[in-house]
Amino acid sequence: MKKIIDLLSDELKSAFTECGYDEKYAKVVVSNRPDLCQYQCNGCMAAAKEYKKAPAVIAGEVVAKLAGSTAFSKVEAVNPGFINMNLSAKFIAAYVKEMGKHEKFGCDESRKNKTIMLDYGGANVAKPLHVGHLRSAIIGESIKRICRYCGYDTVGDVHLGDWGLQMGLIIMELKNRKPELPYFDDSYTGEYPAEPPFTLSELEDIYPCASKKSKEDEEFAKAAHEATVMLQNGHRGYNAIWKHIMNISLADLKRNYDNLNVSFDVWKGESDAKPYIEDMINDFVSRGYAYESQGALVVDVALDSDKKEIPPCIVRKSDGAAIYATTDLATMIERQKLYHPFKYIYMTDKRQEMHFTQIFRVAKKTGIVPEDTEMDFLGFGTMNGKDGKPFKTRNGDMLRLEYLIKDVEDAVYSKIKENRDMEDAEAREIAKVVGLAAIKYGDLSNQAVKDYIFDIDRFSSFEGDTGPYVLYTIVRIKSIMKKYEQTYGNDVKTLSDRMADFLAPEGASETDLCLLLAKFSEVIESAYAELAPHKICKFIYDVANVFNGFYHDTKILTEENEAKRRSYIALISLTKSVLETCIDLLGIKAPERM
Ligand code: ARG
Repeated sequence: MKKIIDLLSDELKSAFTECGYDEKYAKVVVSNRPDLCQYQCNGCMAAAKEYKKAPAVIAGEVVAKLAGSTAFSKVEAVNPGFINMNLSAKFIAAYVKEMGKHEKFGCDESRKNKTIMLDYGGANVAKPLHVGHLRSAIIGESIKRICRYCGYDTVGDVHLGDWGLQMGLIIMELKNRKPELPYFDDSYTGEYPAEPPFTLSELEDIYPCASKKSKEDEEFAKAAHEATVMLQNGHRGYNAIWKHIMNISLADLKRNYDNLNVSFDVWKGESDAKPYIEDMINDFVSRGYAYESQGALVVDVALDSDKKEIPPCIVRKSDGAAIYATTDLATMIERQKLYHPFKYIYMTDKRQEMHFTQIFRVAKKTGIVPEDTEMDFLGFGTMNGKDGKPFKTRNGDMLRLEYLIKDVEDAVYSKIKENRDMEDAEAREIAKVVGLAAIKYGDLSNQAVKDYIFDIDRFSSFEGDTGPYVLYTIVRIKSIMKKYEQTYGNDVKTLSDRMADFLAPEGASETDLCLLLAKFSEVIESAYAELAPHKICKFIYDVANVFNGFYHDTKILTEENEAKRRSYIALISLTKSVLETCIDLLGIKAPERM
């Protein structure tokens, strides 16, 4: 199904060609002066140069050609040479009707049979989650859903940080606390205990403690480094501890991601790169890509065209330890083998940009990833507290997801209780769904690259550009539909059936709603192309506002003319479906009531 803007451009193209002008000047855009017209074409200005005529003359000729078109209720040439257009109600109605019957509301529904590899989440095992991980999960989940909606196959991998220095730190701290454990006895050859030597809460205490110690105590730091290398080289006891850490942490992480309604197709981590590392490094060396520099192995990645310095990428440290770049590159080898993606999208804090620039270049240079594979890095800004510093919870702790979610849930709960007469249990249930929407919408409605302030009061408000406001609008439509069915008989119909009843829009707000809904496919495609969920947020906020304007202006249920009433119901059903599709792309759900 064509986009509305392309249909209009087609009309203009024929008119331009019939008048003897190149169709390249016929581009139609949404009006930036909605008070004057809905769409406009500014191509006559450029055409004037080529054809050495006044722009107004060209515009006049084109407009005269368009006079007979049924697409427009108004086409006019205005000085110095713009073409302003309003669409006819009939044209709008036909488009909206078709859109409502289309499986994806006008978006290209074809299956692309191409895979996109998405790397998001990125939690570090046994280390506390930080706000960057929350953002990565929320943004990644949304981007994955958008890619899928656009017809791509997707593989979402959490890519856990499970192979780095934190493991050596934990092992050494554990050794200090419980030296008698068999893992530390090199002469021990028996089976290691199946029971882990710590609980989750002990583990949560061990890491921060070890991390602090390593900053103060050089000996300890050195030992932790060594333990990391030994772990990576297969030390039996350390690997057994590592498995315990993984088991305990993973269960906890899965629970956290579940609570966020964020899911992964693949639960791999840095450690899964292990089987590929040695061959990869040998290959880099033998083909002359990697060379030694101050004991480390590096690959040059600078280009003449660089505006800032891109230092060589360290692919192995002097102590032989695999580092972030090593595991990321080796992971690509596996991803190429298993999924052969045409595009990679990595989502982390934007402070990691240099790392990704470097590894993308190494990957292309060494041929791990084919030259024509797209490699995107979506770096996002920081979620700050009201003090402008990275967000901490009320008690000043690092982010504990549970607490953060709970705080927002409580805020929503009190709002519901203030405004509604509702049982506690139901209010709690609803606050859960709406609270999560408040967090996600609060995050996704900002352009990802920007920092934003996490403001519970604002995010949980039922008014303004917030998740709860959008959900409230959906719930309002659901309740109108329910009343409609109760009053006029339970005529359960599909959206497509309802759309058959849609008549041409009459009032201004009805027309506005139609025109806005008709932009759905453009919005989704640009959200995909620019990896920009905030464009979907902007769209649904606009739709919610325009819908609420229409609702305010129109007696829907009490409209006496049956045909009109049915037409209204068709339009609001479409509005509901479009909004529901959009929030689903953001990873948000709507409750039945609120
Ligand atoms: N674990 C990393 C961190 O906490 C994020 C991982 C991102 N993904 C990747 N392939 N490097 O910073």
